Amino acid sequence: MTPPRKLHIKSYGCQMNVYDAQRMVDTLAGEGFTETATADDADLVILNTCNIREKAAEKVYSELGRLRVLKDDAARNGRQMRIAVAGCVAQAEGPEIIRRAPAVDVVVGPQSYHHLPQLLERAKAEGRAIETEFPIQDKFAFLPPPGREAIRARGISAFVTVQEGCDKFCTFCVVPYTRGAEVSRPVNRIVDDVARLADNGVREITLIGQNVNAYHGEGADGRPCSLGRLLDRLAQIPGIVRLRYATSHPCDVDDSLIAAHRDLPALMPFVHLPVQSGSDRILEAMNRRHTAADYRKTIDRFRSSRQDIAFSSDFIVGFPGESAEDFSATLALVTQIGYAAAYSFKYSPRPGTPAAEMQETVSATDMDERLARLQELIDSQQSAFNKAAIGSTVDVLFERAGRNVGQIVGRTAYLQPAHVMAPPEIVGQVLPVRIDSLERYSLLGELALTLPERAGAPTAPRLTTGA
Ligand code: 5AD
Ligand code: SF4
Repeated sequence: MTPPRKLHIKSYGCQMNVYDAQRMVDTLAGEGFTETATADDADLVILNTCNIREKAAEKVYSELGRLRVLKDDAARNGRQMRIAVAGCVAQAEGPEIIRRAPAVDVVVGPQSYHHLPQLLERAKAEGRAIETEFPIQDKFAFLPPPGREAIRARGISAFVTVQEGCDKFCTFCVVPYTRGAEVSRPVNRIVDDVARLADNGVREITLIGQNVNAYHGEGADGRPCSLGRLLDRLAQIPGIVRLRYATSHPCDVDDSLIAAHRDLPALMPFVHLPVQSGSDRILEAMNRRHTAADYRKTIDRFRSSRQDIAFSSDFIVGFPGESAEDFSATLALVTQIGYAAAYSFKYSPRPGTPAAEMQETVSATDMDERLARLQELIDSQQSAFNKAAIGSTVDVLFERAGRNVGQIVGRTAYLQPAHVMAPPEIVGQVLPVRIDSLERYSLLGELALTLPERAGAPTAPRLTTGA
């Protein structure tokens, strides 16, 4: 029998990496690894990296510098620590990582996590192992599902990958190169995963994919199934009270998705729909395949499905060729749409992408100034959105105990954190909360109903509360 070993995973970047980290933990659990919170006492440290912007990629090398010191310390104490680099930097830079950071034992791309045990063996025998191919087999068929204990420990909200990769080739983006071509998982596998999570107390599922609404997995009838129809199927699973999905491309919003928002109370009225820019010239240079007017129309279609629907987005400022007018068009679009939240980034050229060949025209000062102006506008919209909740009664899905004694924290439909004083058995339930005040980004309030007698109340989430 293998002796117990400790595993520490540090994830950067998107939700897909958070999900992948859990799959790696589940895979290595079968090899006797249990998770540890710090790298100090770990036998294996995995850096699950992000390559979306230069800053994110460079973090990996500074972290590897720190890990080398820990690895040397461990060796001096007669203990072996191994270091693996996973994620999109592993995929994009493979051998370069070993050249720059010789302390690394394993480099593994996102499509090969199910091979981690073999790669660790190979590294033991050969000193080092690299795997960054895109294998033909579906890795999901080989990744073990999480055990009951692991699901319960991860809480009542879970991510499930339904689609991976991207065929859109936006000119600034590395994803089509690091995650490969679009692949959708079959409906029955996703249904099995979600039912298993629900059976173990999960109440909220976020379906994730790099381009999630391009989902077209095989349905029960053998034909491709859309994201809207998949959501419809998942909403029928007992125990699932909230459904979300991310990240969507504006061009792939079909009528089944709009209908899902109209018909499924479990589908949260909060859509992350990145637009990147409000200028048609820049959208074209980015190869986004739509205009600002197309995007507005898509937003209107969503709005026609539910009047309480709200949006978040991603923006890039300072893309090559972005003029002051182009940037003004972005501000105008933001003003017109009115977002509940949004993320904005300075353009970062990524090696191997078409935009990296374009002449950069926006000075560092202009980029900083545009980012600050855009963020100020977005912040003001977000504050107004949050303030509008004060005085209203909103549904909150309770997730865990808060920092203060007796406090329980949950989230509204719009992912705003909401805090109430209440007994712990409300975790896992959706309850109405009257919002009294706002503290930074958190809503504070009280339960808008009287709870039944506490004596004998279950402490674990009830499994019978369907959608
Ligand atoms: N530079 C800056 N931001 C980028 N993003 C993707 N690639 C780049 C890049 N090269 C942003 C986009 C995307 C989000 C995940 O990251 O806004 O939607
Ligand atoms: Fe990247 Fe998203 Fe464009 Fe795909 S759709 S290339 S993931 S920005």
